Amino acid sequence: MKKLKITGGNPLSGRVRISGAKNSAVALIPAAILASDKVTIYNVPMITDTFALCEILEYLGAKVEKKQDTLIIDPSSIEPKEISYELSQKLRASYYFLGALLGKYKYAKMCFPGGCPIGERPINLHLKGFEALGAKVSVEKNCYIVEAEELHGAKIYLDVASVGATINIMLAAVYAKGETIIDNAAKEPEIVNIATFLNNMGAKITGAGTSRIHIYGVSHLDGCFTEVIPDRIEAGTYILAGVLCGDDLKIENIIPKHIESLLSKLREMGAEFDVEYDSVTIHKSLSLRPTNIETAVYPGFPTDLQQPFMVLLTQVEGTSQIEENIWENRFMQVPYLNRMGANIRILGNTAIIKGGGKLEGREVLATDLRAGAAMILAGLVASGETVIKDVEHILRGYEDIVSKLQAVGAKIELMED
Ligand code: EPU
Repeated sequence: MKKLKITGGNPLSGRVRISGAKNSAVALIPAAILASDKVTIYNVPMITDTFALCEILEYLGAKVEKKQDTLIIDPSSIEPKEISYELSQKLRASYYFLGALLGKYKYAKMCFPGGCPIGERPINLHLKGFEALGAKVSVEKNCYIVEAEELHGAKIYLDVASVGATINIMLAAVYAKGETIIDNAAKEPEIVNIATFLNNMGAKITGAGTSRIHIYGVSHLDGCFTEVIPDRIEAGTYILAGVLCGDDLKIENIIPKHIESLLSKLREMGAEFDVEYDSVTIHKSLSLRPTNIETAVYPGFPTDLQQPFMVLLTQVEGTSQIEENIWENRFMQVPYLNRMGANIRILGNTAIIKGGGKLEGREVLATDLRAGAAMILAGLVASGETVIKDVEHILRGYEDIVSKLQAVGAKIELMED
């Protein structure tokens, strides 16, 4: 186990370069299975989640070559072997192997996926989609088995605009006979990244990024290359660090449109920043106004930034509110922020933050990935020393977070617990 030690109160200035998006990369890597030849994926974040997926690919028989932030995957010798619990529980996104293997081999057996304990996290909509395409789904011990003689196009309505279900159904449907339509599809930028990758292989997908996606089945997909889009959640986390304690902190290699909901809120609060084509520079803000946010599917305010955003609200004089509408258990950071001196009360799915008080360094936990990011931001702005335990959660999703923060002036160290 590892822990982080942060000495707060140091201004952050300089440049932070944002890595490729975790939530794109974790789908692009399993999607490589669908190609008949080598695929090259650029700008892959080197985080434990992507390492875990490469391990599963190699176990299945793929050849995976890593060259800095590039992955070259040769899926030509893959076999659809059972993926054990030991491998599947390392991360949530292992569920994409179900769609990709089903699409290519008409058979997948994988134990239940893992991931952050932020809610129930059912995958009923993924399975409903597979069934609509003609697959039989069964559960044996702790494993899903999805299999089909033949997959055929279908019209699928998602009760919830689920990111995972939208991508998994696309993966399963690219080789299905005929046309598949996904209605109420998720519109997140990561979906467009995956659809573009599949289209580069020769798939025929239109409408990705809208709530109706059409997939016209094909019989062959070639090797190709693609690039992971910048991580909008990593970008948002560093932007929040900049608003909290930055003094001319430039966040580079981003697509500002992907974080418009965050930038609009910050503008409304009175934060000082300049947006350029692929960067945001945050200046020192003299005073900020409280605000309310409600998490929503894209382009609404992302749930994945709600926890880091809460830290900013603890520092703004007045009462703010956060309504969490995606996950049932995404306020696990609250007891630790309160332990550091915040005044936050939870009423159902709403957190009421009475801001303006000072935070003081304490020993806290990273209960999940984004709660961990929130703890880092709290540690950066708090007085004294903050020790964050269970840091493994953070390392799953933020590439080189310690060295990126050290390079802009933060006093942060990763150590063995
Ligand atoms: N849902 C269902 N049934 C399903 C699928 C989802 O009821 O079959 C519900 C979920 O319970 C949740 C809502 O739909 O209430 C949205 O879930 P979604 O499927 O969109 O989430 P996901 O695909 O499992 C991805 C990201 C999450 C991010 C959400 C929402 C990945 C690997 N994970 O999860 O990222 O919070 O979309 O944007 O892409 C993170 O990065 O910290 C993270 C948790």
